[in-house]
Parts: sequence; C-alpha cells; structure tokens
Amino acid sequence: MSSEVIDVVIKTREDQAEGVAVFGLSRTDGLPLPPFEAGAHIDVHITPEIIRQYSLSNAPGDEQYRLGILKDPQSRGGSEAIHERFLVGSELTISAPRNHFPLDMEATKSILVGGGIGITPMLTMAYALKAAGKLFELHYCCRTRSSAGFIDELICEFSDQLHLHFDDMGDEQRFIPEAVFGSYEAGSHVYVCGPSGFMDWVIGSAKEQGFPSEQVHFEYFNAEVDSSGAAFEVVAAQSGQSVMVEEGQSISEALAAIGIKVDMSCEQGVCGTCICDVIEGTPDHKDHFLTEEEREDNDQIVVCCSRAKSEKLVLDI
Ligand code: FES
Repeated sequence: MSSEVIDVVIKTREDQAEGVAVFGLSRTDGLPLPPFEAGAHIDVHITPEIIRQYSLSNAPGDEQYRLGILKDPQSRGGSEAIHERFLVGSELTISAPRNHFPLDMEATKSILVGGGIGITPMLTMAYALKAAGKLFELHYCCRTRSSAGFIDELICEFSDQLHLHFDDMGDEQRFIPEAVFGSYEAGSHVYVCGPSGFMDWVIGSAKEQGFPSEQVHFEYFNAEVDSSGAAFEVVAAQSGQSVMVEEGQSISEALAAIGIKVDMSCEQGVCGTCICDVIEGTPDHKDHFLTEEEREDNDQIVVCCSRAKSEKLVLDI
C-alpha cells in the first residue's frame, strides 16, 4: 500500500444539494496528480489525527481530483470539519489514489447503484464505462431530490443510462431490486456504494436474484461494526511480545498499549489500512473490507475491529 502523501490546494468548491460540498483539488507545486482508475479513493488528512477516505468522483484522466463530501450529522470530526474549514485556497495533504473497488471491464453489463453520497464512485465508473463504450445502468437512490448531489451532471452526461429513485417522488420511482436484478445474465456485474443498511439490502437482493458473490462489488464508507466478543491473546511475531485483548478493546488498542503502533485510518473496518497478516489462529472477521474469499482464507485480519475465534492469534507485526 502506497504511503505517498501529496500536498494539494482546493481550487474549486461548490455547495450542491443539502449538505453536499464538491471540491476540486490540484497539487500545490503545479505538477500533475497521479492517475487514477474508476472506483479509487484517497485519504484526506483533515487534522494530523483525523484521516478519512473519500472516493474520487470525476472521470479518470481528469487533471484534478474531485471529491463530493456529505456533511454527516453523526460526523466524528471528519466531514463537519471539512465543510467548515476547507475553502477555496485551503491547502491540505492527501494520499495517492488507491483502488479497492475496481471495475471489471470484461463484464457484459454493469449495474451501478449509488445510495446518497455513495453516488461518488459510481460517477467515475459511469465515465469509464461510457468512454469504453460498455453497456451499463446507473441507479441513483436518494431520500429527496433536493438532497441529491451531482444531479444536473448526471442528467446531462448519462441520460441514456440513468435511473433516478427519490423517496419523495412517488412509488413509481422506487428502487425495486427484483426489477433491476431480476433478469440476471451471465457476465453481468453489480457495484454498490451508500449507507451500510442500504448496501446490505442491495447486496443481499442482487445475490437472491442470482448474481454470484464475485460479481457483486461494494465499498462501505462507514459502517456499524459489532466488535463485541470474549478476550483472547495476540502475539506480535516480529518482537515476540504478547498481549491480552480484553472485551470491549480492539486488537489495535491492545497492541498500542504495549507500544506497537498499527497504521489506522477509518477505525470502522471499511478502509483496509490496518490489515495484518495472520500467522497462526483463526480470526473472527467483523470488518466490511475483506471479500468472502479473503475471509475464508483466514490469513489476514482487520485489527481495528475484528477479533479471534481461537484463544490466540499470532500476527506478522
Ligand atoms: Fe480502516 Fe481498520 S483502520 S479498516
């Protein structure tokens, strides 16, 4: 994983819809930004302690990075601070783009589903698919039209593929999974991003309608994680140090208490920053990052939230 950081300046800010701010970023030194692919995100260093992940929302190949950020009333210091302090001309530090949510360009058809601000990665995907001449549908689900960011751009750019589903616009606009996923054809893929409850529903519905797990792709941007469970021992193999992870404590917190620091970012099991390799023992996966196959392999663990099924875990750290 790249740890490259980049100093950028906010070139544009547009406040769209209810609580959605759209920022255009360029490098402060004027050099080109690293290229990115559809589905990529960057870390934004809001303060030295607070780092959050945001999807890029513009067409791959654009000179700027564009972010769409919702002011979340439940903000833990992230989006609220961004809305208040990030103005045109503000300088900040970001990471190079990373992509845990890539498009499969071999798909016969791609069904993109964005819930609320989860439309942001779908925008880059829609641009990439359109540029490649691929078959796709773009579904945008929102509570109200007035809360929907990027709406004018979506209508302008993707009028042939766009399906709008706003709760305040009547039943005929509702997103009906059976209708969207009901005619599964081999080679079709689904991509979904949005609030975690919405995503669970869409992912489950797609699978019920016959989409194989490996053709249902998703990226959580925040999530409820149930990190409860009994105490267990963790051994940090590189130093041989051992520590008990108590009930209500995370592995990363227990390791920090004995001086072993793990790189952290979201602390919600969604970004993958804190992944460690497992040498021995069985993880109890609680995250929303690893795929089903990766979970079954049991050779990696997300240490900000996951626990152990075995009495002891030995980690390559
Ligand atoms: Fe993001 Fe653990 S810090 S998954």
